[in-house]
Amino acid sequence: MPLQKKLSCLFIFFASLLLTRAEVVPCNHKTPVCECTDPRDEVCEFTFDIEMLQTFTRYVVDDATGDSRGTAGSVWYINNDGEWERANSKDTLCGSSINSTNCTQPFGVDGYTFRSFIAVNGRIPGPTLIVTKDWLVKVNVINRLASESVSIHWHGMHQRNSNWMDGVEHVTQCGIPPGASFTYIFNATQYGTHWYHSHSGAQRTDGLFGALIVKESQSDRAKVRNEIGDFIDIPSQHTLTLLDWQVSNSIDLFTRIHSGIRYYNIENAAKLSSNPESRRTYSSDGAEVGPVPYWSGIINGKGRHRSVPYVNSELSVFEVSPGSVYRFRLIGAQSLYAYRFSIDRHKLTVIATDGQYIRPMEVDFIIIHSGERYDFLLQTENDTSQFNYLIRAVTMEVNDEENKNITEAILHYNTDSSTYPTATEYESIARSSQSDHVRCTETSNCTALNCPFLVYPQRYHISCEHIHNLRLLFPVSDSDLPTNGAKGRTSLFFNFGFEGISQTSAINARNLKLPS
Ligand SMILES: *[C@@H]1O[C@H](CO)[C@@H](O)[C@H](O)[C@H]1NC(C)=O
Ligand SMILES: *[C@@H]1O[C@H](CO)[C@@H](O)[C@H](O)[C@H]1NC(C)=O
Ligand SMILES: *[C@@H]1O[C@H](CO)[C@@H](O)[C@H](O)[C@H]1NC(C)=O
Ligand SMILES: *[C@@H]1O[C@H](CO)[C@@H](O)[C@H](O)[C@H]1NC(C)=O
Ligand SMILES: *[C@@H]1O[C@H](CO)[C@@H](O)[C@H](O)[C@H]1NC(C)=O
Ligand SMILES: *[C@@H]1O[C@H](CO)[C@@H](O)[C@H](O)[C@H]1NC(C)=O
Repeated sequence: MPLQKKLSCLFIFFASLLLTRAEVVPCNHKTPVCECTDPRDEVCEFTFDIEMLQTFTRYVVDDATGDSRGTAGSVWYINNDGEWERANSKDTLCGSSINSTNCTQPFGVDGYTFRSFIAVNGRIPGPTLIVTKDWLVKVNVINRLASESVSIHWHGMHQRNSNWMDGVEHVTQCGIPPGASFTYIFNATQYGTHWYHSHSGAQRTDGLFGALIVKESQSDRAKVRNEIGDFIDIPSQHTLTLLDWQVSNSIDLFTRIHSGIRYYNIENAAKLSSNPESRRTYSSDGAEVGPVPYWSGIINGKGRHRSVPYVNSELSVFEVSPGSVYRFRLIGAQSLYAYRFSIDRHKLTVIATDGQYIRPMEVDFIIIHSGERYDFLLQTENDTSQFNYLIRAVTMEVNDEENKNITEAILHYNTDSSTYPTATEYESIARSSQSDHVRCTETSNCTALNCPFLVYPQRYHISCEHIHNLRLLFPVSDSDLPTNGAKGRTSLFFNFGFEGISQTSAINARNLKLPS
């Protein structure tokens, strides 16, 4: 072969390498959002580094990679000025300032519980992945846990013709063993608000989860706005994940629940007989809410256990501007508890659930169970006399004092005259929030979407909108529906609940009684 021809072959070879290169999205412990914006050849590549870390701990950063490996750390806490401070002044490992670059940032999570969690790229929850519909997603998962295998389920992706990428350990794959890695490759064929989580044991409740946002194509975006009007859609800023946080990691908790002893929130076994916290909890209709008492909850990895003063906590803050319409995306990543979600003094216009647009429905509350997603539009106030509002998710337990079993975050109006809320302001923001008694009265009912029961007791003044009253905005394509041989098209919404103290189950609030 003449040299010239050889060279041109080489050229074509290298050119094709360039043309087929994916967008390798930098995803490390400093990136809470990994957005793939312009991949060549429509392939987005991410890396997930999975390791076990301890709350309230800063880890020495490995210079070579800029990542932590959980090998050497120093304990920090939030002081009465609302700032991180090292717990032990003799500990010089990470210096005396939280701004030292030697070490990773600490995660207080619920601001109270000193326990281990599973981090994806050094954080809880894992990074938000943002891609566009029909792009190929490649995620290289590296398992650095000491003894557990992992798997990652891409919740909401149908995985047609890629069933083996569904990420369910023991069902569609063998677990990824400690020290090993595995690359998931799938086509993001469903747009909307989705998420990813471990499908091994209960690892997702220890932190192994994150948001997976699939943006629509230009033309689909135009179609949606044509139907429901224009709105600001910034998934990197306005995506919320909800998780009830537990006293200890999932293996501990699982052992206790499955032995029937549930848990006892005390350290001294001699006090067990007088401890009231060993029981199950119930909601207003007598349904069981949780097999263990509620502990605390987090929104995007931050929250406040009820025994921690506001100033010693860290809450998530979501920024908006006045007089605009924003799309918010809500992801139910919970372990045991459903939440009733609301934003103080704002209505929520629900526009999508589980990746499907619906005809808009305005409500005060969205009840969200594990695995569910709801997208809503938020019309921000024009008048900016108040800059901060409480975002609340309250459990469905029968609560005697209001608002205690709750997880909180802040909606912040970012204007020329407002300043970003710090921990010293959390308490006053919470105090000025509108209680449910004030919001929902006999003359002005509230509406809750997705009640797991038919009605609320009268005293709540909340009426229920049920999930089977939702209507799709666009028909689902035939290929997306299960085929049952029937002519015509049916859209089915299922809401699974566990009703009554006899622990029978319900679908769309209807009970199936087994023949006896
Ligand atoms: C970084 O760590 C080194 C020791 O590894 C220490 O000498 C130095 O003071 C630290 N720097 C800061 C800013 O904490
Ligand atoms: C850390 O840096 C931030 C922003 O640069 C600053 O506001 C804060 O005061 C610093 N904190 C400490 C403890 O130095
Ligand atoms: C993903 O699937 C869609 C629809 O089946 C197809 O049009 C598209 O080309 C696929 N994308 C890739 C990168 O294979
Ligand atoms: C909060 O949860 C605990 C434990 O589940 C329960 O005992 C208590 O009644 C709840 N508190 C309130 C105020 O609802
Ligand atoms: C804000 O003003 C716009 C136009 O002036 C109006 O359409 C909108 O309803 C107002 N929003 C609120 C929350 O009052
Ligand atoms: C409030 O809801 C109840 C049912 O929960 C209903 O009977 C009543 O008419 C509603 N009141 C208003 C003002 O909507």
